Amino acid sequence: MNQELACLSLAVKTERINELYRVISVEEPGLAKKCRAGNFFELRSSAVSSRKLFKPISVYRVDGSEISFLIKRLGPGSEALCDLKTGDLLELYGPLGNSFPLVSDAHILLVSGGVGYPPLAGLKSALDSSNHVFSLHGATTSLDRFPADEIWQIEGSSEHQGFVTEGILQYLERASVDLVYACGPSAMLKAVSMICAARGIRAYVSMEAYMACGIGACHGCVIPVGDASSYDYQRVCKEGPVFDAASIVWELI
Ligand SMILES: Cc1cc2nc3c(=O)[nH]c(=O)nc-3n(C[C@H](O)[C@H](O)[C@H](O)COP(=O)(O)OP(=O)(O)OC[C@H]3O[C@@H](n4cnc5c(N)ncnc54)[C@H](O)[C@@H]3O)c2cc1C
Ligand code: FES
Repeated sequence: MNQELACLSLAVKTERINELYRVISVEEPGLAKKCRAGNFFELRSSAVSSRKLFKPISVYRVDGSEISFLIKRLGPGSEALCDLKTGDLLELYGPLGNSFPLVSDAHILLVSGGVGYPPLAGLKSALDSSNHVFSLHGATTSLDRFPADEIWQIEGSSEHQGFVTEGILQYLERASVDLVYACGPSAMLKAVSMICAARGIRAYVSMEAYMACGIGACHGCVIPVGDASSYDYQRVCKEGPVFDAASIVWELI
């Protein structure tokens, strides 16, 4: 690992959102300055029981010198991160990966699903002042709801019931969109990509992948990029996580 990517151990501030989600924050002015919307960090709790488990987590918010992460409690790695208490130590390296391209004077649709919300929250702040931005968020249950212009929910009752892809179709009926940015489960990203391709709308997606090193060394996170007859593999942690949706060979995902 080079000097730029030294692993730091920093005290965290934690905030409980609900039984599934926590926001954890660290103060580090040098790193905060480098963060761009779409970047992620590799994080792990310094608690002994969770050694070895670095997890890729997107930058959620940068406020001055404070970097925040929104984390869903899922398996052992994310559990250990969610169990951190204010003052505990977090080990981290980053920021990693590429970032969303920024534009101006465009009508933009942001589409997030589940833990795809954090990078798009940061992107919204970066785009809001110079574009018309509308955000759609897809939740499974009421626990996965985060602030957005429209929230679609699969289980339980909600004003907008169903998959967020239904929200996209309805929005595209009533608005002329130049650009779509999306982050969420692969199935959702594939659907977003198909919807946009059919209408000639450019889309950028931040891809999910199982990651080991997070820095481009192990090739454990590759996805096929190109076209179905001629493609190569690119690393989600290095060339991504943000890709032009049209460049991904979705049939092979
Ligand atoms: C670039 C990137 C950014 C991410 N940003 C965030 C974030 O901001 N907040 C957040 O809460 N999570 C985020 N994640 C997902 C997070 O890294 C995983 O949820 C976490 O690694 C799960 O580890 P675990 O040890 O808790 O669970 P595990 O035991 O590893 O997994 C629990 C379950 O989740 C599934 N799973 C785990 N990781 C992935 C994955 N990458 N893709 C698809 N399915 C998976 C497993 O199949 C299993 O069913 C991000 C992932 C990537 C690649
Ligand atoms: S996680 Fe090792 S190359 Fe991407």
